[in-house]
Amino acid sequence: MAITIKSEREISLMREAGKILADVHNKLAEIIAPGITTLDIDRKGEELIRKAGCVPSFLNYEGYPASICVSVNDEVVHGIPTDSRKIEEGDIVSLDAGVIYEGYHSDAARTHGVGKISKEAEQLIAVTKQSFFEGIKMAVPGNHLHDISAAIQKYAESYGFSIVRDLVGHGIGTKLHEEPQIPNFKPVGRGPKLRPGMTLAVEPMVNAGDWKIWILEDDWTVVTRDGSNSAHYENTILITEGEPEILSLNETDISV
Ligand code: MF3
Ligand code: CO
Repeated sequence: MAITIKSEREISLMREAGKILADVHNKLAEIIAPGITTLDIDRKGEELIRKAGCVPSFLNYEGYPASICVSVNDEVVHGIPTDSRKIEEGDIVSLDAGVIYEGYHSDAARTHGVGKISKEAEQLIAVTKQSFFEGIKMAVPGNHLHDISAAIQKYAESYGFSIVRDLVGHGIGTKLHEEPQIPNFKPVGRGPKLRPGMTLAVEPMVNAGDWKIWILEDDWTVVTRDGSNSAHYENTILITEGEPEILSLNETDISV
């Protein structure tokens, strides 16, 4: 399947999906505190998603057992919430969530520091987030997809951090994962030309140490091989005639 160009009607639905998802993230940011479990976060997230009239897109996706991916410290992405994992002061917690509204998906992730965190962890979170914004500066028609990838990589690596290579961003729409794949590092070639109406989930995953990862025995949780911290920041964006529109971010977003 080629990269889909969304109609005005589809874009409206994806806007609504994105707004709801941004709000879910803002509300989850408020409950992150020492003592709550990763399962508490998942339960709250699922409740918020369903109350807004959406379906959690991750639940049962290829067998994934929860609505919110909760990945703590050296966990990169796809952490599985449990009632035995308590959030502690000093942790960094990545939350990844997806919603389906009237058949259309939105996908977004944020990383939160809990209480006082190390200087390095603080910088990792900030650089990961900013690498997304550096990347999407390139997300204008006429540019190529890998201009986004290269800008993310350049920014994150300039701080001595590394880009996870085994996982990438993706097109999004009636499916969670559509074409194209969106690496956060510069691959060979320029990639497809960006056109108005493309909707993309851009999601840098950045490690404080080496880029190499393992997958745990649960077949989901991705961790850094060297045990270093990892952060994740993601939004669903729309390519327009001019600047990209960030669909999964509210103007009053407190978690950005
Ligand atoms: N945002 C992630 C992605 O785009 C999470 C989906 S994996 C799931 O791949 F299994 F948790 F759904
Ligand atoms: Co995604």
